[in-house]
Amino acid sequence: MENLNTIVVDFTSHCNAMCGNCSRNIDGIKVNPNMPLGHMTMDTWKNIIDNAKGIKEIIFNGSYGDPLMNPNLVPALKYARKLKCNIMIHTNGGKGSPNLWRMLAQELKDFPQGVVTFSIDGLEDTNHLYRRHVVWENLINNVKAFIDNGGLARWRMLVFKHNAHQVEQAEQLSKDMGFVKFDINGGYTFTAIDSIASEAIEKFKATKKEEARTIAYDTSKLDNVERVKNLMEEGFDKGCITCKWKKKQKIQISHTGEVFPCCYLLSDRYPKDPNSPYGKECNSVFWPNVNDTPLKDIVETDVLNFPSDNRFKICEVTCGEV
Ligand SMILES: C[S@@+](CC[C@H](N)C(=O)[O-])C[C@H]1O[C@@H](n2cnc3c(N)ncnc32)[C@H](O)[C@@H]1O
Ligand code: SF4
Ligand code: SF4
Repeated sequence: MENLNTIVVDFTSHCNAMCGNCSRNIDGIKVNPNMPLGHMTMDTWKNIIDNAKGIKEIIFNGSYGDPLMNPNLVPALKYARKLKCNIMIHTNGGKGSPNLWRMLAQELKDFPQGVVTFSIDGLEDTNHLYRRHVVWENLINNVKAFIDNGGLARWRMLVFKHNAHQVEQAEQLSKDMGFVKFDINGGYTFTAIDSIASEAIEKFKATKKEEARTIAYDTSKLDNVERVKNLMEEGFDKGCITCKWKKKQKIQISHTGEVFPCCYLLSDRYPKDPNSPYGKECNSVFWPNVNDTPLKDIVETDVLNFPSDNRFKICEVTCGEV
């Protein structure tokens, strides 16, 4: 497809983890009740792949789930081989057996480039503070199985106050284990405006009282904090928005097959707070579905071009200039 480089797919809305600020859960303990739980079906996947000729990259990432939860990940990759595109998979790494990870490493060799980004937010004593329910031992065994079988792995770390002192150690461990890349996840867009306004702090509840905690971001490592502060002080101007995703010729597809201009709008599709103005705006639009309309036709519709009319509030926050 001429006007499209990258398809980002939320391959499921299920997850083994409960990260406190993820769109899929509330306060780190409760699954977002406004989000439909499900895996992308093979029919939906085939509708995407069969209409994606010429695509350069497929990224398994999104707003609500971890791709390893969908039992069809390996068959889906086999089916996508014909596109000869690059693959990137984002995961917390805690799900699956070493055997599955060995198979994944083998499968990814059939693409020009196949990489897994492991979201690991610290070391053994800190990763689970944000990546709730990810068991370190399982994660490390999976990473080893993947890398030992020739898999290309990247470590991406969110920096909080509680793990900021471990960035160098984590980078060293990534080298020792054979990761090909280590970097920091800037995090701003995910933490969104509320976190910035309230000093980038999240309150996690817990089923056991001693596990409840307040987590603070290391704001020196967050992207765009200054920009958002200025935006809030000066007010928003819809007039100067550069759509980051359009520039990269990238779209987001949900696990149900709906197509969005970016992951931020998918996050607003099932807002944690049903009264969120962002959610209301997003849900005032009918989002096309690959199961009803060929992807090629969807890409050419106005729906994905709305941001060029500076249409959504989220666009001001995410892509607006000050
Ligand atoms: C919803 S997750 C889906 C993929 C996978 N489950 C994972 O966590 O890597 C999408 C991205 O959001 C990131 N993320 C999670 N919490 C975040 C936060 N508080 N700030 C910024 N990014 C965050 C994850 O690390 C991941 O890169
Ligand atoms: S691992 Fe990813 S999808 Fe799962 S809760 Fe954490 S950020 Fe959300
Ligand atoms: S928030 Fe709006 S302007 Fe930014 S990438 Fe998404 S659709 Fe484009």
